[in-house]
Parts: sequence; structure tokens; C-alpha cells
Amino acid sequence: MTFSPQPSPDTTAWRIFHDASDGVWVDNFDGRWLVQTRSGRFPDNLPEEDAASVYWRPRDLDAATEPTHRAGGVVDAPFSVTENGALFKIDFSAGYSPGIFLDQRENRLLVKEKSAPGQKVLNAFAYTGAFSVMAALGGAETTTLDLSKTYLDWAWENFALNGLSREEHHGCKGDTFEWLATFARQGREFDGVILDPPTFSRHRKKTFRTDRDYASLAELAAKVTKRGGWMLCCANTHRLRFGDYRRQVEEGIQLAGRRATSIDSKPMPKEFCGDDYLKTLWVEVS
Ligand SMILES: C[S@@+](CC[C@H](N)C(=O)[O-])C[C@H]1O[C@@H](n2cnc3c(N)ncnc32)[C@H](O)[C@@H]1O
Repeated sequence: MTFSPQPSPDTTAWRIFHDASDGVWVDNFDGRWLVQTRSGRFPDNLPEEDAASVYWRPRDLDAATEPTHRAGGVVDAPFSVTENGALFKIDFSAGYSPGIFLDQRENRLLVKEKSAPGQKVLNAFAYTGAFSVMAALGGAETTTLDLSKTYLDWAWENFALNGLSREEHHGCKGDTFEWLATFARQGREFDGVILDPPTFSRHRKKTFRTDRDYASLAELAAKVTKRGGWMLCCANTHRLRFGDYRRQVEEGIQLAGRRATSIDSKPMPKEFCGDDYLKTLWVEVS
């Protein structure tokens, strides 16, 4: 097995092994490894002795299933990791994901670089607010939006870990589509809007599917993006071809009566080699 090197000295969590064809993925959280497999078998060539702890979650199990302990020390409490100098709380018992999606590292750093004092950044589908933390570290006033109170509370813990005061930032609990429509009605606009929805979501009787509904999401988001501002649009699915995805984003921006003055795609971090499920577009809007 060949492991990916640490991406930078101030990053202690990254994917150290990624093999989508055999279905083995290993994430290193500051020495604690989370191994995911597509088959029900644990990989027999993993040097478990190199890790402080090893946990395993077969992907064929329910997504919310806690990983099980395999080797090394037991991780029985949340801990923190560093990514490009920012701190994030990790909890192996949290089920769905331990608190951060490592494939978004480079986008998170770009969000910090694009954010500045005096700007407002909206992070929709925020999960534990990792993008919000980076925007806030860049100096922006952030709004963190998610359906789940549990994840919003986790986001505030991440803010606190980074010495960011909650007083200067906002949290919105509820549905992204409803909040975007409310912001538009109120005439609220943001310098940057981050859209990183799940592949599928259901709220009350409405469903959202990334491959089917991205244009309407982009339309609502473009309406609350300042002219001269940016949108970070992500789609996390193998099912959508990149060209079709880009067309949906462009269509949404046009429907909002806005224009995309530049659209850049971003590859995934290189340790996720050979897999292109995460599609990223950085769009400047006028
Ligand atoms: C894929 S995660 C987002 C990852 C996140 N952007 C990050 O970088 O860590 C999806 C998140 O969207 C939230 N969610 C799902 N449907 C939603 C909706 N209709 N409105 C707002 N949040 C939603 C979930 O609670 C979950 O936290």
C-alpha cells in the first residue's frame, strides 16, 4: 500500500489511501485511522501498527453506523484535528461522518483566501460549518445554514475552537430553499455563497436531487449573491456528468437574471486520485 504524504505541516487530517476500484479508503485523523471498505472484508495488507488507532466502517452498512474499533487505542471522546491551521472537532461516534469531509480541503482554503473583513458569506448545507470557519478566519461575517440543530451546534463548537466569537456570526436552522427565498424577499445579499448539498435531501414533502434540481438551487442562490460576488457550487455524485452539471449551474444563474463572468472548475485534492465524484465550480457573478 502506498500512502499519500501529509499535505502541509499544519494539516493533521487527510486521506492517506484511496482506491476506488478496489473500494478501500483510509482517512488519517491525527494518527487515528478511519478505514472504509466497499466489501465486507477488512484489507489484510493495512499496516495497522503505524496508527495510534484503527476504526473500520464497511460502506455497505447503513451510512449512520458507527465505525468499529479494530486496533490501537480506543477513541472514546471527540478530539480535534488541524487543517491548514484551522481546528475542527472530530467525533468517531457521530455516525454519518466524523465531522469533516476531507475532499473539500482545497475549496475550504480558497474560501478563506476569498473572504475578507466587511464581506458576508453564506454557507448553505453547512453540516459542521467547516466552510464557515474558514470564511470567518478570512475575516468575513458568516451565515451558517443547515436543517440540523445538532450540526449547527457542532459548527459553533468549531467556531469556539478557532477563537471565533459567535456574536459576530449567524446561524439559520431550516431548509436552504426556504431560507434562500426569504433572503431574496428581504433583499439580503452575500459576497460569497457556498452550495454543497447532499446528493439527495427530503424536507417536509419536498425532495431535492443534485442531478435533477441543481439549476433551481443555483437560481435561488444567484439571486442573493451580490453583483461582483462569487458562488462555490459543489455536487457530490458520480451520477452527474461534469458538462451537464455545469449547464445546470449556468442555467440557474441565467434564470436569476445574473451573468457568470467567470467559471472555474477545481479538481479534487490529489490524494483522491482517479475518482471524480466531487464536482466543483467557482463562479463569479455580475
Ligand atoms: C453533504 S453535507 C454538507 C457538507 C458540508 N458542506 C461540508 O463542507 O462539510 C449535507 C448537509 O446538508 C444538510 N441538509 C440536507 N438537506 C438540507 C436542506 N434541505 N436544507 C438545509 N440543509 C440541508 C444536512 O443536514 C447535512 O449537514
